[in-house]
Amino acid sequence: MYRAPRGTRDILPQDQPYWQFIRDQIRRLSTLYGYERLDTPLFEETSLFTRGIGASTDIVEKEMYTFQDKGGDSITLLPEATASVMRAYLEHGMYVLPQPVKLYSILPIFRYERPQAGRFRQHYQFNYEAIGVQDPALDAEVISLAWRFYKDLGLRGLNLQLNSIGDQNCRPIYIEALINYYQGKEGEICTDCRARLKRNPLRLLDCKNEGCQPIIEAAPKSLDLLCPECADHFAALGEQLNLLQIPYQLNHRLVRGLDYYTKTVFEVWAPGIGAQNAIGGGGRYDGLAKEIGGRDTPAIGFAIGLERVIMTMKAQGVQVPPWPRPQIFLAYHGSEAKEEGLRLVDRLREAGFRAIMSFGDRSLKAQMREADREGVEYTLILGEEERRREEITAREMTTGQEAQVEIGRLEEWLRERLEGGA
Ligand code: HAM
Repeated sequence: MYRAPRGTRDILPQDQPYWQFIRDQIRRLSTLYGYERLDTPLFEETSLFTRGIGASTDIVEKEMYTFQDKGGDSITLLPEATASVMRAYLEHGMYVLPQPVKLYSILPIFRYERPQAGRFRQHYQFNYEAIGVQDPALDAEVISLAWRFYKDLGLRGLNLQLNSIGDQNCRPIYIEALINYYQGKEGEICTDCRARLKRNPLRLLDCKNEGCQPIIEAAPKSLDLLCPECADHFAALGEQLNLLQIPYQLNHRLVRGLDYYTKTVFEVWAPGIGAQNAIGGGGRYDGLAKEIGGRDTPAIGFAIGLERVIMTMKAQGVQVPPWPRPQIFLAYHGSEAKEEGLRLVDRLREAGFRAIMSFGDRSLKAQMREADREGVEYTLILGEEERRREEITAREMTTGQEAQVEIGRLEEWLRERLEGGA
């Protein structure tokens, strides 16, 4: 028996109402904020990610699904969307459009991670990017879209974590301060941290190891070493978030796992879903466009992990509209009635009713059981006798009441009793 590959999941019909509800919210909110949809391919040239995300990040070092295609090119399944969106922006010359260009996507993301609750090898993101403007008010708007999205889904108890990690001017100074601080402490930190100190010092702040915590707590903070431009940007953003009444928590340890960030970084954490509690993350990435060979283009964006959002909705008992059930079941008796039934169900669908029919020539009793299990409102029973009279028996399932309805005016009769039906 085959099973879905480790770290992947089927999204079964019973979960689809959550997904549909979320997709509806995404479309509604994206329109409210002036975003348009972009669909990129699900794979790109590998170097887009090694250059864009950074060669020494966990994603690039350990987690990419990379392979050589039959033509010998190195291809990677999207391990995130931002680099692709920026590639598309540059490729299609979107810098000639009014800025910022706001683009959103809903797409699967592939990361070879160790699977656990809330961490998959394929997950879905609602990703959105606002490209072309360097203004803290745009950061505030991007955060506001995230905040409203979660709120409108009905989630509670969320925590917005905010930090600034500076830019090409002040970050090197901060990193140097961090390295100096760790100098002489190599014996007290874990082996992973010793490696981070050499390869990616910012990630030192991310370590979950118990023994490293006191050292991280006392480490220099990026906010204390920002250059005037980054400090002003961050101060303005704080004020604008206050204006929008969006509560946030400063977190000097928040550095994010991708190298392209500059200035603002933020995440949203949810209670009650375990260790993988980040239900979204993002930030400003003013250097990415240039890093991947394009013109200098400031940008900011965010991505929301949809599986974790659904986990939170379930944990908090959020109700979503159910998937529409069939309203009508057509049962038949005899082969001529079956053909007539096929035509009739088609007519009902044309009229806008959700109608299904029985298949497989089962006994009337078995068909009635089936209709019951489908939870329809009416079962239409077509036998040879009814056919001759050009009538059909309509059985109201909740009461068991039956009526003879003229086939010619069936739609009209149903329209008086059921929702829908144009
Ligand atoms: P990220 O933080 O790597 O950011 O991913 C965004 C969100 O995707 C996470 O907060 C989480 O909810 C979800 N996620 C990530 N990995 C997994 C996984 N293995 N299983 C389930 N859910 C997961 C980015 O990808 C950036 N591109 C976001 C961004 C957009 N920055 C600027 N623009």
